[in-house]
Amino acid sequence: MIRLDKLLSDAGLASRRELKTLLKTGAVTVNGKAVTDGALKLDPAADRVCFRGSPVEGPRRLVLLLHKPAGYVTSTEDPRDRTVMELIPEHYRRQGVVPVGRLDKETEGLLLLTNDGALAHRLISPRYEVEKRYYARHEGTAEAADVAAFAEGLRLRDGTLCRPAILKPLGPGESEITLTEGKYHQVRRMMASRGMPVLYLRREREGSLGLEGVERGALRELTKEEMEALG
Ligand code: URA
Repeated sequence: MIRLDKLLSDAGLASRRELKTLLKTGAVTVNGKAVTDGALKLDPAADRVCFRGSPVEGPRRLVLLLHKPAGYVTSTEDPRDRTVMELIPEHYRRQGVVPVGRLDKETEGLLLLTNDGALAHRLISPRYEVEKRYYARHEGTAEAADVAAFAEGLRLRDGTLCRPAILKPLGPGESEITLTEGKYHQVRRMMASRGMPVLYLRREREGSLGLEGVERGALRELTKEEMEALG
């Protein structure tokens, strides 16, 4: 059994506070009868809840693709900094989306958010080897020896061993880096360990998803097909 107000807020209809007013208007019916008491307990599998005549579904699975700008931390709350959640419209936040993995405050680019915990786990876990591709501007120029060191599996200055990764030099001070894991500050630490400190970093792809058509600071919902492809 679940409280009516919880079911409605989980479905993203309104916050618990807004619901009080909304219920008073008689817009919500349970099994055809208007209900004004949010505390009513019901069985979501058996009772039919409607809002303005349309059935209210449980919280739907949602995946958002955000083009994160620099200057925002990837967390849901922070005492000092702006968080990526400030870029997410209220109606999505109400549906419980949280960031999948992390981009550093100064890193831009593709960040997924979802309300599906199992999917988030799969995307983060190195076991599933989801490829993440980054564009970096950095000091120095990547040489064949750096490419080979990345391909072999780099050992960071603190001894951490990285999985084999792809380093593709694009020109002086510019490279593309593809990883299948996401250790803390990984790209920055990998590049620094080869004497090429990163000056600018952007995540361009995650699996088959890219930033095409999504301006910096904007977002879009993944389509059903894209969500299915993620697993
Ligand atoms: N690697 C980094 O160093 N920073 C990021 O934000 C992502 C990968």
